[in-house]
Amino acid sequence: MDKLVINGPNRLMGEVVISGAKNAAVAIIPAAIMADDVCKIENLPNIEDVKSLFTTINKIGAKCQFLDKHTLKIDSRGVDNICATFEEVKKMRASYYLLGALLGRYKKAEVAMPGGCDFGTRPVDLHLKGFKAMGAEVAIERDVIRVWAKELKGAAIYMDTVSVGATINIMLAATLATGTTTIENAAKEPHVVDVANFLNIMGAKIKGAGTDVIRIVGVEKLHGAEYTIIPDQIEAGTYMIAAAISGGDVTVRNLIPKHMDSLSAKLVEMGVDVEEFDDYIRINATERRLNAVSVKTMAYPGFPTDLQPQMAALLAVAEGTSKITENVWEKRYQYTDELKRLGAQINVEGRVAIITGVNQLTGAKVDATDLRAGAAMVIAALNANGETIIGDVKYIDRGYEEIEDKLNQMGADIKRISM
Ligand code: EPZ
Repeated sequence: MDKLVINGPNRLMGEVVISGAKNAAVAIIPAAIMADDVCKIENLPNIEDVKSLFTTINKIGAKCQFLDKHTLKIDSRGVDNICATFEEVKKMRASYYLLGALLGRYKKAEVAMPGGCDFGTRPVDLHLKGFKAMGAEVAIERDVIRVWAKELKGAAIYMDTVSVGATINIMLAATLATGTTTIENAAKEPHVVDVANFLNIMGAKIKGAGTDVIRIVGVEKLHGAEYTIIPDQIEAGTYMIAAAISGGDVTVRNLIPKHMDSLSAKLVEMGVDVEEFDDYIRINATERRLNAVSVKTMAYPGFPTDLQPQMAALLAVAEGTSKITENVWEKRYQYTDELKRLGAQINVEGRVAIITGVNQLTGAKVDATDLRAGAAMVIAALNANGETIIGDVKYIDRGYEEIEDKLNQMGADIKRISM
């Protein structure tokens, strides 16, 4: 198991280029198997979750080939297996997208219960409720979800909770249903829009992605397409926060500034200079110590839960007392015990974390308890005095492409030790 050894503190200077969006990629790859044709997907992040999906869709009969590190050709003409119950599927949360994709194309699917990062109950009831509204039957047998339908029919679906996964999954199935589906209280995240754009290029008729109401007119079949994935909002945010904690001056390239609004506003409130350009943002935190702020996580366009741990690392060294309220995941504070090992002062009660800023963190041995928690440890280590050793790096590798190379190019001192 790999470890990252970080010698801090380091001031980040220079620039970093953001990769394609993980959470778009993990839906777009399953979406590609809905066409009985060939798709070319560009700007894929070179991360473990994409590699797991590559293996998964090969196993169900697609012929996939990496044309280069970031470009995947998917020939779905051979897909003949609606049963995805093997190990790779169990490891990933996003494998639930195979349910919507296969149900749409074959009107049946068997998929292992999704795994992924553990931060409390991660239900799929809204996904299944949507499939049922379209006429599908659902059975959960041990750790396998089975869905099937004689005919998949468009339906009016209201989401009790805003869910990225359920919105995308229902959109996938509804694309090849008969009639019109409307999803109300839909998730508006940039990756929801990206998946809808990809499906539309393949011949789907989806309107309203990015708003509360998505309308999908079912089509008979989809055709192949070439598509370039949007930049990763969360990776971009992670580097913006890393620049801020290090007191650095960093240009974060290849992002969509609009996607960063909620974070940029908080950084400005803390005292960071944030300059926006067409497809890059410059973060300058060289001038002053940053001050405490309050952060509430919410569905897009709110502050993303996937940046909450990284933001906590930054607030741990801000002047004053900050408050974080986590509104999306009930148990997304496991990492705070790790952050405390580095000297952070954090008190968690239920969904609220109160953070009293210290002058500087101190290096220690910590674990990446999940993907974003791992990123938070890396960020904290850039500020910490001395050596920080981060274990369980496999979580970080699931979602960050070459994180140590990108940071080292800007002046960090990070070594990977393979054990
Ligand atoms: C996606 O997970 C992301 N994962 C998560 O990112 C992210 O934290 C989350 O959206 C919220 O933005 C992927 O895109 C692969 P949800 P997802 O359904 O779709 C409740 C990362 O670090 N809910 O939007 O699984 C649920 O309990 C990962 O990159 C139901 O009640 O999240 C939660 O409170 C971690 N029933 C809320 O909705 C359901 O059927 C939002 O979850 C589904 C969800």
